[in-house]
Amino acid sequence: MHLPEEVTICEVGPRDGLQNERVNVPTAGKIRLIEALAEAGIRVMEATSFVSPKWIPNLADAEDTLAGVRRREGVTYAALVPNLKGLERAVAAKVDEVVIFMSASESHNQKNINKSIAQALETYREVVARAKDAGLRLKAALSTCFGCPYEGDVNPSVVVRISEALIAMGVDEVGISDTTGMANPRQVHAMVSQVAERIPLENLSLHFHDTRGAGLANVLAGLEAGVTVYDGSVGGLGGCPYAKGATGNIATEDLVHMLHEMGVETGVDLLKLIECAKLAQDLVGRPLDARVSKVGPVNHRCSGAVHG
Ligand code: HMG
Ligand code: MG
Repeated sequence: MHLPEEVTICEVGPRDGLQNERVNVPTAGKIRLIEALAEAGIRVMEATSFVSPKWIPNLADAEDTLAGVRRREGVTYAALVPNLKGLERAVAAKVDEVVIFMSASESHNQKNINKSIAQALETYREVVARAKDAGLRLKAALSTCFGCPYEGDVNPSVVVRISEALIAMGVDEVGISDTTGMANPRQVHAMVSQVAERIPLENLSLHFHDTRGAGLANVLAGLEAGVTVYDGSVGGLGGCPYAKGATGNIATEDLVHMLHEMGVETGVDLLKLIECAKLAQDLVGRPLDARVSKVGPVNHRCSGAVHG
């Protein structure tokens, strides 16, 4: 197998996870989780969203959350932004990275951000230009790339076209996302290969949900196709409120455990990460589905933090 030596983990639990929980975690709890994740060696994290509080009430405290976090040097604190208003809020809150987001299917895009694909690209052109002026790194999360819960199959050429448009605008990274866990490993390999014909692999990341149990198999396909950046959600928190059945991002601790066992380094301390998953479970007040937190790692070799 040809696997990379090292992979970057982007933790999305505080944003993707908590946005969808029935329980609205108090701001102080969110801050504790974000700080604990940084302490566990997470170096890139979606901390919150600057979206409409009417659409996502759980993240209405985005300003207070970021203001309360003791920032750790070397950690990129990112936030989702759907428009210029969101960007203004994110800049004022001193984020390091802005994540714009849209879908590869019209129906999901409309339900999630109330815009067509063309309108979203138009909106983001200005957001990206202004974010660049503000010196921010930019990621674009592209949902429903492997299938849409409303429309079914999504043509890979649409994913390629939107990804190219986003990169041409100045986005640093496109996150190819499987919003409702519809992808399979062969499809992932084919999709990455097709997108990589037009966009350098270094600009791609992958975001999987474990809805149908194929999450980590899809990571493996992504690794073999050469992608080195993966999203994970601590404890497996999360989903998308505008995609029915979008339960369960892949759990960061399951992802890190598999990578370490295969000799792929992440810089994350697995045992500390498992403590974060326990904290996440306490905060949401329900048992989470992640595996490694329940049974522990195969051995302690894989718990070591490689990069501090
Ligand atoms: P809209 O209703 O079309 O927007 O929503 P609008 O411009 O007409 O504004 C409506 C109201 O929202 C106004 O307030 C605005 O001021 C306010 P009012 O005048 O009624 O009092 N507003 C805002 N407030 C604060 N911050 C803002 C903001 N923008 C407008 N930034 C909008 C359009 C995009 C705003 C809305 O649809 C929205 O916020 N959507 C967010 C949906 C979301 O966060 N979904 C989850 C994230 S995506 C995801 O999870 C998938 C991902 O993980 C990858 C994957 O798994 O696939 C990324
Ligand atoms: Mg997601």
